[in-house]
Amino acid sequence: MNHSSSTKTVPSTGLMPKHIAIIMDGNGRWATKRFLPRVAGHVKGVDAVRGIVEACIKRDIQFLTLFAFSSENWRRPADEVSLLMRLFVTALEKEVKKMHDNNIRLKIVGDLSRFDLSLQEAIHQAEQLTAANTRLTVTVCANYGGRWDILQAMNKVVANGQLAGEITEEMLEAQLSMAYAPEPDLFIRTGGETRISNFLLWQLAYTELFFTETFWPDFNAQSLDEAIASYQSRERRFGRTSAQVTDVQV
Ligand code: IPE
Ligand code: IPE
Ligand code: MG
Repeated sequence: MNHSSSTKTVPSTGLMPKHIAIIMDGNGRWATKRFLPRVAGHVKGVDAVRGIVEACIKRDIQFLTLFAFSSENWRRPADEVSLLMRLFVTALEKEVKKMHDNNIRLKIVGDLSRFDLSLQEAIHQAEQLTAANTRLTVTVCANYGGRWDILQAMNKVVANGQLAGEITEEMLEAQLSMAYAPEPDLFIRTGGETRISNFLLWQLAYTELFFTETFWPDFNAQSLDEAIASYQSRERRFGRTSAQVTDVQV
């Protein structure tokens, strides 16, 4: 199904967001504050993911998208990168069956070609296994970059020979790596930084943004509720006036 052009209609923010996208930041600082190695923060971060997935299911959220590793994170020290990869592999091994049992569909998006073949294979199998699940779609963005996503979509449009006329938003959106999901309603970044860091650039055009100082390993169901409450207190206008939006909703 194509969910593009979500900004053309005005969804009510009083409802639960359908799609929440999160930059899970602050693992390193969480650990450093406790005189632990940074990796301890990443390990705790995986536990936090488990908690938030569960919380999203309880709240009937349909799409949860998590930024796990950016295309820029290769710049980190080699031992931290390889540890993050190992954690990713272990988490896949441990969690996929449980996710499947809970009717969760798992998607991994990003430039996967840079990962070991065995990891690529594990990703492929996890996606295959859970493809028909309907309760919640969890997308993990790995070696993902918003600019990469727009460029790979553009290259596909070109390769498909669709360039006879002008490129439309619809043509490009159909090739974005998350074309299966509506654009995020709510974006959350933990860890105190107030930037997008090359996350979903195209898709965040009209998303409501929420930033919190809480480090990712401490982010729990209550923190999620605070973000959702903030979202629900806002008015999404998509360029219209407040009076227009109120008219549309009555
Ligand atoms: C986010 O936490 C996890 C990844 C980027 C993989 P960080 O590792 O960026 O934690 P800080 O920002 O250094 O505290
Ligand atoms: C963004 O976090 C990427 C992920 C959470 C995976 P970073 O901590 O790498 O972001 P910057 O580089 O500080 O902006
Ligand atoms: Mg960080």
